[in-house]
Amino acid sequence: MKISQRVERVEYSAIRKLSPIAKRAEEAGKKIYHLNIGAPDIDVPDIYFDTFKNIERGALPYAPSEGIKELREAISKYYKDRNINYAPDEIIITSGASEALLFAVEAVADYNDEIITTDPFYTNYNTVFQQLNVNIETFKTKPETGFAIPDKETIEKAVTDKSVAVLISNPTNPTGAMYSREELERICEVAIENDLFIIADEVYREFIYDGNEFVSFGELPGIEDRLILVDSISKRFAACGARIGSIASKNKEFMAAMDKLTTSRLAVATLEQVAAAKLYEETDEYFKKVNEEYQKRRDTIYEELNKIPGVSVEKPRGAFYIMPTLPVEDSEDFAKWLLESFDVDGETIMVAPANGFFKNPEDGKSMVRLAFILNNDKIKKSMRILKEGLKEYNLRNE
Ligand SMILES: Cc1ncc(COP(=O)(O)O)c(C=O)c1O
Repeated sequence: MKISQRVERVEYSAIRKLSPIAKRAEEAGKKIYHLNIGAPDIDVPDIYFDTFKNIERGALPYAPSEGIKELREAISKYYKDRNINYAPDEIIITSGASEALLFAVEAVADYNDEIITTDPFYTNYNTVFQQLNVNIETFKTKPETGFAIPDKETIEKAVTDKSVAVLISNPTNPTGAMYSREELERICEVAIENDLFIIADEVYREFIYDGNEFVSFGELPGIEDRLILVDSISKRFAACGARIGSIASKNKEFMAAMDKLTTSRLAVATLEQVAAAKLYEETDEYFKKVNEEYQKRRDTIYEELNKIPGVSVEKPRGAFYIMPTLPVEDSEDFAKWLLESFDVDGETIMVAPANGFFKNPEDGKSMVRLAFILNNDKIKKSMRILKEGLKEYNLRNE
């Protein structure tokens, strides 16, 4: 017996790679501030939990494979209120954006085809590609430009005759970049000229700072047939554990492919879908309040990082990640050391080494990704631990 080469190829997600070490440290009594993973600590709105209280008892049948009508209608309305036009039957419900991404890549890419994305990129894109034997191609986004989308020529260099799609996270995990209309249009031009699908992952679209305006790929004309819009309630309503995502497309062939893939896994959890539909009754007030909280956290972590000698960092414009360069040669070694050998009064931090977010891991060797999903006090404590940790680690290694 043997495990398939397909799975052997898959690397552990950079976000959870150090989890066994963290578990051992926690078992040994250390308190760990988890800045490695984007799981928000914000309360899910009450309306979500109330739904479960009031649910009718009896049998619990499978939901339709494409998702329940109320939720598809709720997402359609949410989009419509934001200038994005998808009818409920152009939306299907998935088990998180993770399943949406898996299905989207499965539907558009064959063995050895290529998908283009930014470098750095959300590390789990690569785990999806690896399990489907799809190759990753990237174009660089650089800290000194705020991780902006580069010029058209640079994007085009990533295109080959194997390219089938461009996959963009906006606002971006892991860099916190948010792309302007012009940057998105540049992607669209390359996609149109090379006949590529655009897979737009907009799970962070409600987290936009400094009053900036977010532009969705869904608002842009001329790409309707090639756009696949991936979404989720995980971050939007801090409901990661609900595992509810969605995929929207006007491309009928693509939707027919989705029909096959979704029927093969029967359905997504029924009650979670009912409750998710209720979440979409939240008003703009809710989004505003949550956004203000994240902006405060963004400001705190940015200010605190700037106080640490040797750290350089860009201010995120969206999402809830920040990607500083640290004065260390190997951030993975430093991250492990923080968990295994360091604490301040019994407390330490867990960070995601950035090497797993780059096509060439060497490019992220001095960087880490931090998620500002803890409250301001905890962020301040965590940054104090980081500062002390860097000092001691570098003294030790001198
Ligand atoms: C950019 C991006 N896309 C997709 C996902 C997956 O989201 P979900 O929890 O809906 O599967 C994440 C989770 O962190 C993410 O950061």
